[in-house]
Amino acid sequence: MNAKPFTIGVLTSGGDAPGMNAAIRAVVRSAMAKDAKVLGIANGYEGLVNGEFRSMGARDVGGILQRGGTILQTRRSERFKDPKGQREAIRRMNAAQMDGLIVIGGDGSLRGAQALTAQGIKVIGIPASIDNDIWGSDMAIGVDTALNTIMEAVDKLRDTASSHSRAFLIETMGRNSGYLAVMAGIVCGAELVLMPEVNSTVEEVAHAVEDAYLRGKNHAIVLVAEGANIHTTDLSRMLDEMDVGFHTRVTILGHIQRGGRPTAFDRLLASRMGNKAVELLLNNESNVMVGLQGMGLTPVPLAEVTSHTRPAALAYYEMAKMLAR
Ligand code: ADP
Ligand code: F6P
Repeated sequence: MNAKPFTIGVLTSGGDAPGMNAAIRAVVRSAMAKDAKVLGIANGYEGLVNGEFRSMGARDVGGILQRGGTILQTRRSERFKDPKGQREAIRRMNAAQMDGLIVIGGDGSLRGAQALTAQGIKVIGIPASIDNDIWGSDMAIGVDTALNTIMEAVDKLRDTASSHSRAFLIETMGRNSGYLAVMAGIVCGAELVLMPEVNSTVEEVAHAVEDAYLRGKNHAIVLVAEGANIHTTDLSRMLDEMDVGFHTRVTILGHIQRGGRPTAFDRLLASRMGNKAVELLLNNESNVMVGLQGMGLTPVPLAEVTSHTRPAALAYYEMAKMLAR
């Protein structure tokens, strides 16, 4: 009689991030190469609690490498946050004879993964969130694609800003992290960046915009992270009242930052991380997240990931200011 194959569950959770599909594909195909079985879990932890499992083979993950979003669907699940929901999820996993779980998601999803490991479930985490706010990985899946989307949008907005001699306040996502805004500030040559980790005043923004005007620029770009201490639309109103040379317009980029075809960087990162997660599980390692550190992949204990806050990108913030002259 053949031994039961090692069975791996895989889910995507939290905000979707471009490259999640590439990670799912890598998990399925890497597992198949080692004669392990994969159960795809629909709808994140909500599907884990409900037992929404389906067997996945090579053809089920064909044609998804280049697609944004997640074919497994994702949810935020209040039920799973509750210990009762977690108990139900574990019951479902045991019934399906799941030997290990791969969680692809952001910092909240990894806290969920940690809650399961604390109850004896073998879990490997894969960081995926455009916010890049996860401890232990230089980059999460989706960040590079989101940054490229922002860059393309800001380049376009600069054309119209220059044609009308306007200041554009452009709001980026990131929840409490200013990573996307700061990096976009550098790659788009913004006049100023507002990030949640640094308190800014309206006077500072007014000064930067007016200064750009007085130096003869025909536009000013201010990148505002969604979590910044001044709200983008309030800022626009106040700048117009103060008369800073340019009239202002606001663009909130919103969920466009979460969609689209993953960049080569994200496809490669996701493929490597999916492959590594399977390798770790089959080597009987668990309770870690696959982190990108430098060019290499390193297992970082989930307990460490979830008990630390990733430091703000302050050196890049200073650099963005230095280059905006
Ligand atoms: P992200 O993973 O993108 O940060 P969320 O913060 O919304 O997204 O988390 C996704 C899901 O992870 C939540 O809806 C919840 O089901 C689960 N989760 C988050 N925090 C915890 C926690 N402390 N304990 C258990 N599950 C959690
Ligand atoms: O975590 C990813 C993210 O896009 C954040 O940048 C943003 O604050 C949040 O999710 C938006 O969540 P929702 O998709 O529920 O609107």
